[in-house]
Amino acid sequence: GVLPPFANQPPVDFSRAENRDRMRAALEEVRSRLGREYPLLIGPDEVRTGDSLVSESPSDASLIVGRSAKATRDHADRALSGAEAAYPSWSGRPDRERADVLLKAAAIMRARLFELAAWEVFECAKPWQEATADVDEAIDFCEFYARRMIDLADPRRRDVAGETNRLSYFGRGPAVVIPPWNFPLAIPCGMTAAALVAGCPVVLKPAEQSPVMAWHLVSILREAGAPPEVVQYLPGVGEEVGAALVEDPRAAVVAFTGSRAVGLSINRSAAETRPGQRHVKRVIAEMGGKNAIIVDDDADLDEAVVGVLASALGYAGQKCSACSRAIVLDGVYDAFVSRLAEAVPSWTVGPADDPDSAVPPVIDAEARDRIERAKADARSEGRVVADVDVDPLRDRGHYVGPLIVADVDPKARVAREEIFGPVLAVIRANDLDDALRIANGVEYALTGGLYSRSPAHIERVRGSFLVGNLYINRPCTGALVDRQPFGGFRMSGIGTKAGGPDYLLEFLLARCVTENT
Ligand code: NAD
Ligand code: ALA
Repeated sequence: GVLPPFANQPPVDFSRAENRDRMRAALEEVRSRLGREYPLLIGPDEVRTGDSLVSESPSDASLIVGRSAKATRDHADRALSGAEAAYPSWSGRPDRERADVLLKAAAIMRARLFELAAWEVFECAKPWQEATADVDEAIDFCEFYARRMIDLADPRRRDVAGETNRLSYFGRGPAVVIPPWNFPLAIPCGMTAAALVAGCPVVLKPAEQSPVMAWHLVSILREAGAPPEVVQYLPGVGEEVGAALVEDPRAAVVAFTGSRAVGLSINRSAAETRPGQRHVKRVIAEMGGKNAIIVDDDADLDEAVVGVLASALGYAGQKCSACSRAIVLDGVYDAFVSRLAEAVPSWTVGPADDPDSAVPPVIDAEARDRIERAKADARSEGRVVADVDVDPLRDRGHYVGPLIVADVDPKARVAREEIFGPVLAVIRANDLDDALRIANGVEYALTGGLYSRSPAHIERVRGSFLVGNLYINRPCTGALVDRQPFGGFRMSGIGTKAGGPDYLLEFLLARCVTENT
């Protein structure tokens, strides 16, 4: 039948006791299932390997969330053989049948919302609200892409006297999906669901840090009716199995989200034509950011302080969309900086399963050490106005205290390089032109923001702040599927928009058939 129009999944309201109770119950239930082993899923086979990836909880390093088998290049070869063999029948199925798999998967995720969120709390230290929002976004991707495919399935007609013309789409071929860990259900689900509904069988190589979430995703898609060869689960080391999948001549699409360095290396590797390859690979690479919020000298400072901190410290700054630069006009600079510093202590650092924690630990020990090194450098690049000590928590997990450095030179490293942690550089601008020049002066172009009450300034920034997602008088994170198609350009990405109307075209090829009648 005809589907109701797309609507975003409403956020869970944790001010209601019943939702808090459901989340606590889900956490207890999931806690009793930690530590299990997860095999590779290659076609119908569950494959155990000698070696495993151990997924630890960032909030409490003594908790093992799960152990997943570790795939090798041979497994990549097997999985792509299966995907290639499954491609003609999967892409040849009626589009509605493929869309129905996504709709069923959305229904399963909706029924398991709190449980899936609880897994995220343990595996990735997502705070409650953000964990449920991540599951919501995964549901939205399935519901949205299912509808887009149904729309695209109708061939475009351009008939003239004596001639019919039909433009129609079909899936490019096997897709390799390589996500990061920071939106552990939504991002792998978005890329996988788009490929599947377009007719591309998927080999999913999850991030090393979140294999258990990806296992749930693949299990749900299979339960929803995706044949085993059409969605396969291949956790392993990026540089080994990820690189092997990207190189393979059978891969038609590589959908990657992650760091700039890896995105560029994948783009390079995929561009090479290997023996037996008869197509040019399509690469989607969504990469990092060095996102700025401009604070105008007539901004509502209460709103600006809250919005900048939420954008900088939410999920400990581990979002590609996070604000890592506040560019503040001279007229309000001193007032803004002192109010920002005063507000930081209300952002409590603590474990993700505690609903009172505002800043969870970072994903792993390597990330903590890298961020601490970047913090040490940043302290010498400006005036430290907030530097939170997390010593009492240090033995429990990978906690990092927020750091805010003011009076930063736009050329300083802390103002140019992505740190991916709770670190904010505050930069003084003489006027709006100066602010825009600084904002646009980095290599990335993902998200950006403006707090201002001046219609003329809002108009200028709207036209001249060149980022993929610009937010005016609100935080610069939390894009919603369909409402805010997400993705950037320059070194932030090739320019695709996840959750947008054109995204499926990346996975599709078009044929035009003309008949002389
Ligand atoms: P990462 O680049 O280290 O890893 C991402 C994925 O690539 C992982 O699955 C990893 O195993 C794999 N990988 C690593 N080396 C590989 C190789 N040589 N060949 C193939 N695959 C390889 O990134 P991360 O630490 O998981 O995520 C953080 C980064 O992701 C940040 O830079 C962040 O800004 C970015 N990000 C971007 C978006 C976006 O939409 N633009 C969204 C989320 C995260
Ligand atoms: N889509 C995520 C956000 O907007 C990255 O924060």
